[in-house]
Amino acid sequence: MPVNPRQHSFEPLIVAFCCNWCSYAGGDLAGADRLSYPAGVRIIRVPCCSRVSPNLILRAFQRGADGVVVAGCHPGDCHYDGGNYLARRRLTLLHRFLEFLGMEASRFTVCWISASEGERFAAVMTEITQKIWSLGPNRKLRDTR
Ligand code: FES
Repeated sequence: MPVNPRQHSFEPLIVAFCCNWCSYAGGDLAGADRLSYPAGVRIIRVPCCSRVSPNLILRAFQRGADGVVVAGCHPGDCHYDGGNYLARRRLTLLHRFLEFLGMEASRFTVCWISASEGERFAAVMTEITQKIWSLGPNRKLRDTR
């Protein structure tokens, strides 16, 4: 479903950590195919999703992200053997920690997008942005200094 930012009062800032081998290439393909996805998505390229520490995610929320996505290769396809399995285990715990902090855990998403799934990349980013619109801006962890 296409996104119409004029319907909403704010533009969600989504920080997307994308693994170099699959998800980033999927985003690249979405761009090459001229598929649109929300302008508030900021992609950070990482070698593998297992390199994304929970501290980076918490810091992104502190620095103003309304939603954070970690996107990696499909299970079994990680270029570093089992990096995405490690990430899945670690980031599942982060979900629970976010709930413990009183934050909506649904602001944080882990997904698998391959290099050939440009359409899926655009659809996932659109879906996440719509979810964040329904939750409103992130105010819980935002750094107020
Ligand atoms: Fe893509 Fe590990 S290289 S998740």
